[in-house]
Amino acid sequence: MHIHDLLPERLAEQIPGRIIRFHAQIGSTNTEALRLLREGAPGGTVVVADRQTAGRGRLDRRWHSPSGSALMFSLLLRPQAGYSDAGMMAALGVAEALEGFGVPGVGIKWPNDVQIDGRKVCGVLPEVEWQGDSLVGVVLGIGINVRVDFNGSGLEWTAANVETSDRPIDRTLLLKAILARLDHWTPHLGERTLFEAWRARLNMLGRMVNIQQGEMTVTGMALRVERDGALIVEGEQDEVRVIAGDIAIGRPTVQGG
Ligand code: BTN
Repeated sequence: MHIHDLLPERLAEQIPGRIIRFHAQIGSTNTEALRLLREGAPGGTVVVADRQTAGRGRLDRRWHSPSGSALMFSLLLRPQAGYSDAGMMAALGVAEALEGFGVPGVGIKWPNDVQIDGRKVCGVLPEVEWQGDSLVGVVLGIGINVRVDFNGSGLEWTAANVETSDRPIDRTLLLKAILARLDHWTPHLGERTLFEAWRARLNMLGRMVNIQQGEMTVTGMALRVERDGALIVEGEQDEVRVIAGDIAIGRPTVQGG
């Protein structure tokens, strides 16, 4: 597939009835979506960019992909309940959409990376906007490697692309498929069905993991996840409850994508 697979005309034609703000280049779609949220834009609005100059990742990281190579977008949500499940929902929606494209080996690495055969293909950055004590909404930032050239990046063995030589991917149709899954799940935020579907795709339960939490590393068997998304690891003495962090399965911590 060529790099003209993400253009405003195609988005309007393929995803009619949806407010989609396309940017050939922007700092960060999440920053723009948070601004729109504060301005009163409706839930369901999408900000999508072909290139970000200040893309943000989890744990204060940068997210960089050259033009034409990734699907990077942010979805505005104005949930009534269950907003803390938004990241879970994003990973699940992307995983389901990839399965729908016939991609084998799709799994979710806790908490919300999507992987293909253990390599990161998608990262999620949910950001919640409050006004005092009241929830304004949530921005769900999603970045997917479609045809990123990882040669020389140091991520050759840890990152993956959705597109392969025998599986061309159209970014507009990928966005359409993901939005369909997210629209399906949004009314179920906060419900057990969403949690169970996410949990069923986690690929590290029962395996040894290393988790980097700031300065601390927790090593042990990943036992289970709790309803709030926390990961329970069998530590040397006790079970350890992990709520955020970077996890590596059976080897030292690595980042991908
Ligand atoms: C991660 O660290 O894995 C999360 C990466 C999230 C990147 C996406 S790209 C679209 C959206 N805009 C951003 O600035 N970040 C998210």
